[in-house]
Amino acid sequence: MSIHEKLQRLEELGREAEEGGGPERIKAQHERGKLSARERLDLLLDDGAFVEMDRFVTHRSTDFGLEDNKILGDGVVTGYGTIHGRLVYAFSQDFTVFGGSLSEAHAEKIVKLQDMALRNGAPIVGLNDSGGARIQEGVVSLGGYADIFLRNTLASGVIPQISVILGPCAGGAVYSPAITDFVYMVRGSSFMFVTGPNVVKTVTHEEIDMEGLGGADVHASKSGVAHFASDSEPECLASVRELFRFIPQNNREIPADGGATDPHDRRDEKLLEVVPDNANQPYDMRDVIRHVVDEGDFYEVHQRFAGNILVGFAHLGGHAVGIVANQPSVLAGVLDIDSSDKGARFVRFCDAFNIPLVVLEDVPGFLPGVAQEHGGIIRHGAKLLYAFAEATVPKVTVITRKAYGGAYDVMNSKHIRGDVNLAWPQAEIAVMGPKGAVEVLFRKEIAASDDPQAATDARIEEYREKFAHPFIAAARGYVDDVIDPRETRPRLISALDMLRNKRDENPPRKHGNIPL
Ligand code: HXC
Repeated sequence: MSIHEKLQRLEELGREAEEGGGPERIKAQHERGKLSARERLDLLLDDGAFVEMDRFVTHRSTDFGLEDNKILGDGVVTGYGTIHGRLVYAFSQDFTVFGGSLSEAHAEKIVKLQDMALRNGAPIVGLNDSGGARIQEGVVSLGGYADIFLRNTLASGVIPQISVILGPCAGGAVYSPAITDFVYMVRGSSFMFVTGPNVVKTVTHEEIDMEGLGGADVHASKSGVAHFASDSEPECLASVRELFRFIPQNNREIPADGGATDPHDRRDEKLLEVVPDNANQPYDMRDVIRHVVDEGDFYEVHQRFAGNILVGFAHLGGHAVGIVANQPSVLAGVLDIDSSDKGARFVRFCDAFNIPLVVLEDVPGFLPGVAQEHGGIIRHGAKLLYAFAEATVPKVTVITRKAYGGAYDVMNSKHIRGDVNLAWPQAEIAVMGPKGAVEVLFRKEIAASDDPQAATDARIEEYREKFAHPFIAAARGYVDDVIDPRETRPRLISALDMLRNKRDENPPRKHGNIPL
């Protein structure tokens, strides 16, 4: 055979690999509103950047008729490319090939990519669309999953790992995405569950469809398994690309400068109006965030889960930052089980990847109630406290209004190594709010009074004057300064500039024992 004939053969095989399960199956995929594995990679990565590896890999199964049915690539397209010009590894499961199911060879391709990503210090994105373990391969396929899980775990905190669910993801297969840093889903076409609707019906007699059990909305708002839910695959993949504007390649890098032109010294008059005069009136902390960060651009994570805390990325004077903010417009911004989990996981991501933390605090305390206590608010709240306390990245806090009780300590207080802690003049920093405090301290006096309401009001006013302000904390240095709200942006940028070369370490240990 001449080289030209060999090249022609190579070209034919390349075309065969690109066809996956064939035009009919790709058509069926499109008819379900789903893109093909390769179309997805094209949208995820920069134009023409994808370099494929292992396109000639096939399975080794000899059972159930598979011996004569080999498809090049074996149901997963793997390789590398760039997002915004920076190296990213990616795999894309191909549902048109044996339902995207995971064989030994399929798993080996993913594992190879995980090893390369870890060795070369670059993020990995998994596009998941799979019927799970390749049934014909039995335990070998289960072993393949475990090989992937192990690498997910070892890469955690070393390189960013992103999972995009674009079809079924069921059974033990869910645990790879669950270990990764961010999970994206698409409404109507992606599903995650440990056991599907049929098994659920048999075991618990509950009737529910796939979307209701494990669709994008359920996981993005109820279970918290997914961080993002989109209406379409293109929207979803564009959102993944957005994330890459804020994160570094690995744990030894700091994120790239945001490159915005928003003036660093911009004072914002609107910040005087955000917090209502009445301390019990809610407001939207997103307004504070938008008026402070570069170009008002806030990439919110877990937007619809535990709305009483906001987490997400932004740039401040070009610095990528992770924002953790109480949200007074949802449950008055209290900390509860879900918001503690949400905040803690985000704080740990930022700390692992050298992303400074900016905390905007308005928190009346932890949520009281039997459900919360029995659900383990002690254990869950401790996660947020632990996460802030162990974080060694630059940590800056602005108390916009309430900072009461244990929540004051938890929300990146000075005592747990907050680097720069600022307060607005409206800040109220105390053990509890005026009403609660007066009820505890003056219950007998008020009961004995001729006019209990007047007695209560007088004591509340007295308490307010004594405690409901930031100056006791400022006198101790627990807040470094009380600032004009309009100065928030310049002061935060100045703090981040000052902390750029911060070095802090925790004692040597194998690992801590965060209360999971
Ligand atoms: C081999 C599979 C497969 C699998 C699907 N296919 N899943 N082949 N192993 N796990 C094949 C089908 O036979 C079919 O082949 C093609 O893929 C498309 O599947 P359909 O059923 O026609 O598609 P659809 O109707 O869209 O249903 C998709 C599905 C369903 C919901 C994913 O295929 C399904 O329930 N599959 C089995 C899911 C499952 O139980 N997997 C094991 C989970 S346990 P043809 O040739 O007919 O087109 C698990 C353990 C992981 O994964 C362990 C980790 C620790």
